[in-house]
Amino acid sequence: MKWLSFSVIALLSLPVSASQVEVLHWWTSGGEANAVEVLKSEWTEQGNQWNDFAVQGGGGKSAMTVLKSRALAANPPEAAHLKGYELREWAGLGFLRDLSPMAEHLGWYTKMPAMVRETLSQNGALMAVPTGIHRVNWLWLNRKLFDEQGLTPPTDWNQFVAVAERLKAHNITPLAIGNEPWQLAVLFETVALGEGGKEFYRKAFLEQDSATLTGPDMVRVLTRFQQLRAYVPQKYAGLKWHQATNLLESGGAAMQVMGDWVKGELSAGNYRPGEVIACLPSPGSAGLFSYNLDSIAMFKQRDPAQLQAQGDLAQLLMTPKFQEAFNRVKGSIPALTNPDMSKFDRCAVHSYQDFLLAEKQGNLLPSMAEGMATPTNMRQAILDVLSNFFNDPNANPEQTALRLERAMRSTR
Ligand code: BGC
Repeated sequence: MKWLSFSVIALLSLPVSASQVEVLHWWTSGGEANAVEVLKSEWTEQGNQWNDFAVQGGGGKSAMTVLKSRALAANPPEAAHLKGYELREWAGLGFLRDLSPMAEHLGWYTKMPAMVRETLSQNGALMAVPTGIHRVNWLWLNRKLFDEQGLTPPTDWNQFVAVAERLKAHNITPLAIGNEPWQLAVLFETVALGEGGKEFYRKAFLEQDSATLTGPDMVRVLTRFQQLRAYVPQKYAGLKWHQATNLLESGGAAMQVMGDWVKGELSAGNYRPGEVIACLPSPGSAGLFSYNLDSIAMFKQRDPAQLQAQGDLAQLLMTPKFQEAFNRVKGSIPALTNPDMSKFDRCAVHSYQDFLLAEKQGNLLPSMAEGMATPTNMRQAILDVLSNFFNDPNANPEQTALRLERAMRSTR
């Protein structure tokens, strides 16, 4: 402990010199790249050097594969975008630098909402610094198409299907989505929230309760999920999430169910989120807030210069100024308490208000699709079952519920 606090003080008081960091992330879509640019420019403005280690691929699967090979070669980057269970697992293996001495010294804990603090802590260690809170349960819709067709935004899944049928009858693709398993998992999880409700979601994914996973509610949720297959774009194979967003913006599709990184993409295309494209809680999930907490972890290093650079970066990430600038572009909300929301778009303000309310009412739910709710291998098993199911027109919901339960049990 003595050594730790000495090292923190020593690091904080080293003379200011240029720091260099390599940062792994998968923020590569137009909007995401703009957000990285915000971070990079704040970092380089302080006279530091940024080595970008960007790996293509929404959901981060490829980024994680690349990171594993670098870590196995004993050459990890100084910092990486790691979150949820993935973060815990890397910390459990002993790869990550414990940031709690810094957090204590600089009073970070009181600046983080409880959910953020808890998600990022393990056995008293702070495993990463937060960069923003994304809400996952959103429905985005193209207002112009809705107005032209005289449609009302759906607030439950029955209404969603009714609207989708009307759109389809006018040759408009109802739902912008690609066939990547993680995109399908986002859709599935919002159906689970909207059709099954909060307790169902908790029991199924947080408690992994066998009776819930195989029960009638799960069968209903799966049946609804399967029904949505009729509304995807013709070219849905290989469609990336941001291409789906572009389809929505351009009027090639009427709705998208996706986390609010969509907003980064809308702003990059000069759309004002909340206006041309409306944001609503996904059907049936008003009041609930499924979260995806983005965070950056630091890999253990020996070189004092690298340690210093990590400390500098962590401090920058924790400033309200950075959090405001970054999250305004990224689509998320700051992961610090009492952020100044005055310059954020109306979807972000909505998200922040809902976050506060959900926090009070116990309605904050970790996103399964985004790796916040289950261990990584269990999440992968769930994604496999769901995507096989969604892509097989003859798949049977009852059997799939049993398969899902079995897959989750075998990875427990
Ligand atoms: C990340 C977001 C990112 C999204 C799409 C999520 O897993 O947490 O920051 O924008 O994937 O790439």
